[in-house]
Amino acid sequence: MTTTPDTRPENRVLIFDTTLRDGEQSPGATMTHAEKLEIAELLDEMGVDIIEAGFPIASEGDFKAVSEIARQSRNATICGLARANYKDIDRCWEAVKHARSPRIHTFIGTSPLHRAIPNLTQDEMAQRIHDTVTHARNLCDNVQWSPMDATRTEWDYLARVVEIAIKAGATTINIPDTVGYTAPVESADLIRRLIAEVPGADEIIFATHCHNDLGMATANSLAAVEGGARQIECTINGLGERAGNTALEEVVMALKVRHDILPWDTGVDTRKIMNISRRVATVSGFPVQFNKAIVGKNAFAHESGIHQDGMLKNAETFEIMRPEDVGLAGTSLPLGKHSGRAALRAKLRELGFEMADNQLNDTFVRFKDLADRKKEVYDDDLIALVRQNEAVSDRVRLKALKVICGTEGPQHAEMTLTIDDAEKSVDATGDGPVDATFNAIKALFPHEARLQLYQVAAVTEGTDAQATVSVRLEEDGRIATGQSADTDTVVASAKAYINAVNRLLVRREKTAPNADVKGVGYMDAGE
Ligand code: KIV
Ligand code: ZN
Repeated sequence: MTTTPDTRPENRVLIFDTTLRDGEQSPGATMTHAEKLEIAELLDEMGVDIIEAGFPIASEGDFKAVSEIARQSRNATICGLARANYKDIDRCWEAVKHARSPRIHTFIGTSPLHRAIPNLTQDEMAQRIHDTVTHARNLCDNVQWSPMDATRTEWDYLARVVEIAIKAGATTINIPDTVGYTAPVESADLIRRLIAEVPGADEIIFATHCHNDLGMATANSLAAVEGGARQIECTINGLGERAGNTALEEVVMALKVRHDILPWDTGVDTRKIMNISRRVATVSGFPVQFNKAIVGKNAFAHESGIHQDGMLKNAETFEIMRPEDVGLAGTSLPLGKHSGRAALRAKLRELGFEMADNQLNDTFVRFKDLADRKKEVYDDDLIALVRQNEAVSDRVRLKALKVICGTEGPQHAEMTLTIDDAEKSVDATGDGPVDATFNAIKALFPHEARLQLYQVAAVTEGTDAQATVSVRLEEDGRIATGQSADTDTVVASAKAYINAVNRLLVRREKTAPNADVKGVGYMDAGE
């Protein structure tokens, strides 16, 4: 199969989304196969140029996901990650080759610290880069190469290996700031200097890949574009290891809103941002912080009197972009207990949920139940309602829960679970209602998983608001995150915990975690 490298106008910046690879790599953000396919489809629809769909050698699951995303892709180039060895690259090609436009992305750590791990001399590593990029290019016309930890690599060595990769056939050179160490002025200078001094650099595309350890990822990415980079690597909501990656929505909106000083275009339909942001938050189990730029709950909320007064007179007094630009509907009226099926269907459609009749009937029953408990059902309530039911596996289900709590401890949780279709009940105690509830689950479904995170957020305002609860469990290095929403915080907690347990069961069935591959081990998969 032959493909052509991306050739776009000078003022076009390619958006390379790595939510499904670098984002999914962050502890606890594991997505199911179906969720990955869905996110890839949303990315393709929103106009992302390249989707890094996974790390095919990492597991059978990653391989299948990348292959299927490649098959279903419509416009985007589909890319897979491979370490600097033939086995990884071959496996990657086997997965991406089904795409209309495939890309192999191969990388190796080039800084002194990273060179020390495989214990290669500079010359040995240079040879390895030549051989592996040549191998990748013999398989695919579209090859991206990354010197991992580029921003801490000696300039002479970086320039040397970039030249080798270009000569071996790389069509994109990505310069990662792997540990989020660089500053904007350096980011721009590094790309500028590489383009000016490395032979052949003007024939290929430079990419920027920034991590957010010092909160400078977006600024560094935009500075790199000023320096000549024409591909930005990013993730939805900035998902990613540690402090995450450059957030797609931030760079895209910065380029749109400040086009006067950042005169580059992307192909992204910004009105699709909010929907995909919410979806990624749900499936990854990483809620978006309230004050996150562009996609945070408060990004368009105006609390203070002065701000509200200004907003009523002229929205531009305190808003540099319109909520509709990122796909947030304007003011929308809440539904209530008298709203009918047609109103619910219309509202769900507006929120991007198209439902078959039987699905709608089921949602309607749960909507009525919620409307009985809550005066007004807002858009966010409905989104939470629809999504909480998308259980990954139904092996363990909550049948009933009654909690007795108050000033006199210990608190009690009487619980019935359905486990593999058999009902089991228990009365457990604990230090508070949530602890008692989690103890009840452990008594009914014994497991060794450790609770790593428990987080509660209100979906909307008011004391009758639904609580969204996130729970993260860890068992033998496997991490699973569960989420749920309910007007009763303890019920939401129980459901979120059970959701995490079910996800853990799915993970148990997959191959054992390969820490070397998911982490930064990169030489020894054998070739
Ligand atoms: O951060 C990094 O260096 C990476 C590489 C694999 C490109 O994610
Ligand atoms: Zn990265």
